[in-house]
Amino acid sequence: MKWHFTYCIILSLAALVVMQEEVVSTKDKVNTDSSSQKKQVLLAPCQACRLLTNSFKKGMERTSRGKFEGGDALWEESRLRAYADSEIRLVEIQEKLCADEEKASDQCQRSAEEHESLLEEWWFKSKVSHPDIFYFLCIDKLQVCCPENHYGPDCKPCIGGLVNPCNGHGQCKGAGTRKGSGQCRCDPGYTGDFCEQCKIGYYNDTSGDASWQCIKCDKACKGHCREAGPKGCEVCADGYQYSVELGCIDSNECIEMSPHPCKHGTFCVNTIGSYRCVECDKSCDGCKGDGPDMCEKCAKGYTFQEPLCIETKTWQRSLHVEVARYATYLGLCIATFIIFRRSIFIASIIGVFVAVYIGLSEYTVGEWDKRSLIKSVKSLTAL
Ligand SMILES: *[C@@H]1O[C@H](CO)[C@@H](O)[C@H](O)[C@H]1NC(C)=O
Repeated sequence: MKWHFTYCIILSLAALVVMQEEVVSTKDKVNTDSSSQKKQVLLAPCQACRLLTNSFKKGMERTSRGKFEGGDALWEESRLRAYADSEIRLVEIQEKLCADEEKASDQCQRSAEEHESLLEEWWFKSKVSHPDIFYFLCIDKLQVCCPENHYGPDCKPCIGGLVNPCNGHGQCKGAGTRKGSGQCRCDPGYTGDFCEQCKIGYYNDTSGDASWQCIKCDKACKGHCREAGPKGCEVCADGYQYSVELGCIDSNECIEMSPHPCKHGTFCVNTIGSYRCVECDKSCDGCKGDGPDMCEKCAKGYTFQEPLCIETKTWQRSLHVEVARYATYLGLCIATFIIFRRSIFIASIIGVFVAVYIGLSEYTVGEWDKRSLIKSVKSLTAL
């Protein structure tokens, strides 16, 4: 009874803790949700105006077919024409203005209110003469944007050209806005006022679809190159050497460097363009490669046993086991021999048992290496 009671208390405490944690975690979730909803970006004036006019255009599309249904076609058509320029339609567009713009809906809403009269002016007076509301509002009236490939307060043409600014390999700074310098911001690999040159480390490739483009030189090159691949280099990068038929190829520092690049206790690994020195296995005192089978000498506390360096302690233990095994066999044989002198019959039975025993135990020892006995004896004498 007493135990049941304690058990009950522990269980209910655990349940309480779990429940509390859940409450806390849902609270966190609610917090992050509401904060992400309120997270709004503040757009630059031209971008904000573009957002507003785009939303307006979407509204026009949404209402383009009116909302009248039924009736005969002729009557409907005339109603639709009347609706197209009506105040009702404008109100319907304005009702949902900025509703879809999640990222900057507040800003969009504010500018919609601010420029309501201009939107009305366009709707009732300028729709025909200025069919593009973006052009009307953002470029002409508010003067926050410029036409395509124009920049700055007076909407000058981009310095890098009007048709294909910056040779198609960069962007005109401030294009489409009343800001910026009109200069080219070149794509990676291009340089020059009009992005008409390849940067150092890039070559002019005329083989592709584009008339020409700048492509990165092979990593075997240092500075300029004439074409793709390690043969196109003008100078080889560090860690590479020139070969007539292959161009710049990786040099194998591990073999070529003299003196040897890695200090004692490490071994050398060649990498593309360089090399690394890697720590030897802990059983080695100097090595030619990775692992206990690549030692030049065994470390202290390790003994060489073809083909590896193994821990001396382990090695001694296995040696003891082996010696004990052979001693047992020897003992059994001697015993059989002693019995043999008394009774040939019993001795032959025991002899069979001994033979089976030795066979079985050798079998279970597993991969039986014939040399291991000789080696054990050799190293024993060496000790
Ligand atoms: C690349 O080559 C083409 C064709 O020869 C040439 O018109 C273009 O100006 C060159 N571009 C560069 C960056 O040298």
